[in-house]
Amino acid sequence: MRQHQIVLLPGDGIGPEITSVTKVLLEAVSKKHEFELIFEEHQIGGSAIEASGLPLPDSTLKACQKSDAVLLAAIGNPKFDTLPREKRPETGLLELRAGLNLFANLRPVTIRPSLLKVSTLKEEVLKGVDLLVVRELIGGIYFAKPKGRIKTDADERAFNTMSYSTSEVDRIAKIAFDLARQRRGKLCSVDKANVLDVSQLWRERVDLLKQQNPDIQVSHLYVDNAAMQLVKEPRQFDVLLTSNLFGDILSDEAAMISGSIGMLPSASLASEGPGLFEPVHGSAPDIAGKNLANPLAMVLSAAMMLRIGLKELQAAKALEASVDKVLSAGYRTMDLADEGCIELGCEEMGKELLKVL
Ligand code: IPM
Ligand code: MG
Repeated sequence: MRQHQIVLLPGDGIGPEITSVTKVLLEAVSKKHEFELIFEEHQIGGSAIEASGLPLPDSTLKACQKSDAVLLAAIGNPKFDTLPREKRPETGLLELRAGLNLFANLRPVTIRPSLLKVSTLKEEVLKGVDLLVVRELIGGIYFAKPKGRIKTDADERAFNTMSYSTSEVDRIAKIAFDLARQRRGKLCSVDKANVLDVSQLWRERVDLLKQQNPDIQVSHLYVDNAAMQLVKEPRQFDVLLTSNLFGDILSDEAAMISGSIGMLPSASLASEGPGLFEPVHGSAPDIAGKNLANPLAMVLSAAMMLRIGLKELQAAKALEASVDKVLSAGYRTMDLADEGCIELGCEEMGKELLKVL
C-alpha cells in the first residue's frame, strides 16, 4: 500500500479544532482510496512558545523536513504580541517557510455557486471567478536585511528592506508562467514599479520571461490598481503573480470573493522537498474553543496536499466534492450563514463532510 508521512501542525487558536475535523476526513479518504497516511503531530507558534520557549522548535522543523507533506492549521495569539520579534508565533511560521525553502505560495480563489449570496460583493461580479494568486514567500520585505530598530537620544527609528534579486524574481515568475499555461494562459504581474526600484527590477525580469513564453498573455498592474480591479472585475484575472507583502494583502482581499476567509486554502512549495499546506486565515482567537470555526479552508488545504504534495488525485477530488455537497445541502458555519441555511458548529460540519465523503 502507498504510504505518506504527514506532519500535522495544529498551532494556535482555532487550529486544534479544525485539525481534528480534517484529520478524520483524511483518514477516511485515504482508507477509501487505498493508501496510508502516517501522521505525526508537532508544535509551532504560540503553543510551541508556551511549551519550549521557541515558536519553531528544532524538532518541529526536522520532522517537517523529513516528511512527505506538512499540514498546518493556524498560528497566532495576541498574548504574545508584545514579545520581541524572534519570540512571536508568526516568526515560527516564517522560519518554517524559510527552513523548507518554500518560495512559491499558491492561493486559488474561486466562488462555489452555493456561496454566491454570502459574499459582501455582488453576485454578478463574482460569478465565474477563478483566479490564482502566486505569491513569493521567502523574500522581499518579510526577510530582506537590513532591518531593525535604532534608538537615538531624541528619537527611535524602525526599518525593513524591500529587496529582490533577479534569481528570486525569476524562480517565482517561472512557476507563475507554468501555472498560467496549465490554466487560461493569462498572467498579471503586480508591482509598484512607478515608485519602487525593487518593483522596476521585478517588472524587467517578468518582461524578459515574457519573451521566452510567447504563448502566455502578460500584463502588469500597480498594486493599488490591482487591489481596486480585484473587487471591480475579478473575472479578468487568471494568474496573479506578486511579491511577498503585496501577495499577503491581495490574497486576504481576494478571500472575500470566495465568500469568507474561512474558505481559502493555500499551498507553499519548494523546488524539491515537502510542501506546506495551510488555510489562508489566521488563528481567530476570538472564537477559539467555541466550536464556531469554519474547517473548510483547512479541508480544502488538505485536498491541495493530496493533489499537489502526494499526487493522490482521486482522493483530492473526493474531499473537494464533499465540501461542495455539504454546502449545496445548505449546511454552513457561522461565517457563511445565509437565509434558509442550517448553521453548524465546526465539529458538526466535520460530521456532515464525513457522511458525504
Ligand atoms: C499569511 C499570514 C502570514 C503572512 C502571517 C501569519 C505571518 O498573514 O499567511 O498570509 O503574513 O504571511
Ligand atoms: Mg496574510
